[in-house]
Amino acid sequence: AGIEFGLDAPYAVEYHESLPSTNDRARELAAEGAADVAVVADEQTGGRGRLDREWVAPSGGVWLSLVARPTVPPARAPLFTLVAAVATVDACREAGVDAHIKWPNDVLVGGDEGTESGTGDASARSGRGGRKLAGILTEMEGEADRVSWLVVGVGVNANLDPEALPADATSLRAEAGGDVDRRRFAATLLERFASLAGAVDEPDRILSAWRDRASTLGRRVRVETPTGSVTGTAVDVESPGALVIDTGEGTRRVHAGDCEHLRD
Ligand code: BTN
Repeated sequence: AGIEFGLDAPYAVEYHESLPSTNDRARELAAEGAADVAVVADEQTGGRGRLDREWVAPSGGVWLSLVARPTVPPARAPLFTLVAAVATVDACREAGVDAHIKWPNDVLVGGDEGTESGTGDASARSGRGGRKLAGILTEMEGEADRVSWLVVGVGVNANLDPEALPADATSLRAEAGGDVDRRRFAATLLERFASLAGAVDEPDRILSAWRDRASTLGRRVRVETPTGSVTGTAVDVESPGALVIDTGEGTRRVHAGDCEHLRD
């Protein structure tokens, strides 16, 4: 591998045809002291998703992980995940696909109807809850008062057939009706990321860019959190990424979990 992707982006790019996981390679680089490098692979053989899930990543996607060393406290680190979601939506829209963010950081197409509570897998297959185009996995190492490194992994189902993907997933190829220029897509994503990441000391700017692209706010949702499920209306997102839910009996803030948009 070399730095040969030839992107006009504010990051050096290390390109690989195949890697187990770009996040794992980025973590190695981070441990060696690298900064402002993006690792890109055509294929991942051991892609990782949120909550220890597997991430299916065949040849044709945009599998990318950024190494950054921002001078921020660890509590602000989740803001970079929001920045990545905003950047990903913008790159999808430039490619002609009307994507939006579902809390916490899934990039979806469609799903305006929501699902009946409890329909689970069947609704995922019919796409009623929205079809997943991209996901983000941020990892970091930090001390008490500052982040030492951050790896922001973005996986976009780009030039892929949905049959090669999980049931609730779609691809840019399927949604745009043709293949996208992955180099240009990655360049747009990295440019947007760099420009908004500069606002990390002004979380409101990041939150407002996120709100503008999110489909979760104002909807009825059910979030499965590590400590149980919360149902209600999603009313806001707060720094560094908590979802504020009005349950009808009070307000709950959830920091992590899986969110389902319910039918109103
Ligand atoms: C999710 O669960 O939605 C997050 C998926 C993140 C996948 C990307 S692909 C590039 C990077 N390398 C990985 O192993 N995972 C992330």
